[in-house]
Amino acid sequence: MNILAIESSCDETSAAVLANGLIQSNVIATQLIHEQYGGVVPELASRAHQQHILPVVERALADANLSKNDVSAIAFTRGPGLLGSLLVGASFAKALALGLNVPLIEINHMQAHVLAHFIESPTPVFPFMCLTVSGGHTQIVRVDGPLDMTVIGQTMDDAVGEAFDKSAKLLGLPYPGGPLIDKYAKEGNALAFKFPMSEMPNLDFSFSGIKTAIMYFLRDNSRANPDFIAQNLPDICASIQHTLIQMLLIKLKKAARETGIREMAIAGGVSANSGLRTTLTQLGNELGWNVYIPRFEYCTDNAAMIAMAAKFKYEQGDFTAQTVSPLPRMSM
Ligand code: KG4
Ligand code: ZN
Repeated sequence: MNILAIESSCDETSAAVLANGLIQSNVIATQLIHEQYGGVVPELASRAHQQHILPVVERALADANLSKNDVSAIAFTRGPGLLGSLLVGASFAKALALGLNVPLIEINHMQAHVLAHFIESPTPVFPFMCLTVSGGHTQIVRVDGPLDMTVIGQTMDDAVGEAFDKSAKLLGLPYPGGPLIDKYAKEGNALAFKFPMSEMPNLDFSFSGIKTAIMYFLRDNSRANPDFIAQNLPDICASIQHTLIQMLLIKLKKAARETGIREMAIAGGVSANSGLRTTLTQLGNELGWNVYIPRFEYCTDNAAMIAMAAKFKYEQGDFTAQTVSPLPRMSM
């Protein structure tokens, strides 16, 4: 089984090859064009995908020492994501599958983030919980099998990655600001400033209130001292990051209490956050959880996770017809 997988849901064009059950290559072309606009511009994203997709796929095959004629199935991200971006990956995958006369496998991007945990050992034991945190989603997922997932909690408004990126924007940092907040937070005092945490019922989240609170906090302090941000950047970043992490972990603890599950995984771009990784590891030690954290390259968008999800579908003979079209709002 040699699977070629393509990911193009947002601003990363990626292709990966899985052979003999293992990832052989994972090539990612990041679109830097969006930085100057302070966020992903959908039209520019789809154009960049068109430019990147062929060289990225050729590189992924070459890195895996395979020719296109060795490919036994082609997987692609069907959704959720930006329509124009998804269309590039889906059309490319469909055309190539048709030309090579091999089956096509559609993948849900959010399921793939969870299944990134099966790329390397140790792998979580079913049933496990996955806190899936990205620029577009914040979910607590109960995972009963590779393709048996239930969202038991989610954000009612902004995703936590958006809260990181929007806070960074208010601080004058370029897009995507999440990794920069992480960087400055390392030198700051997490308890220097206090931001209100919204209280949502059940296992759901809300991140729009904290963004507004940060906006007023920065406005008021900058009025009193125009250099406030420049003088306090590490402390501000550390305090914002601390608050966002606490909001996530409060709900994860609640989910553990309610389900009795102690196998805890994190996935998605925000799981690259060093504060979240350390705090979750400490919490796991305290509460007797087995904590699973993917390697950095498998946290943010990548096609290796698409290939891994496709392996499970291939084994079940779960293939897709050529009539398939992207689903920007695809649910789990
Ligand atoms: O999963 P991902 O690559 O793309 C989506 O599917 O959204 O996640 C991107 C998000 C962005 O909001 C980015 O700022 C955030 O992940 N992110 C981080 C870090 N690295 C990426 N947020 C906080 N700390 C990080 N180190
Ligand atoms: Zn993602």
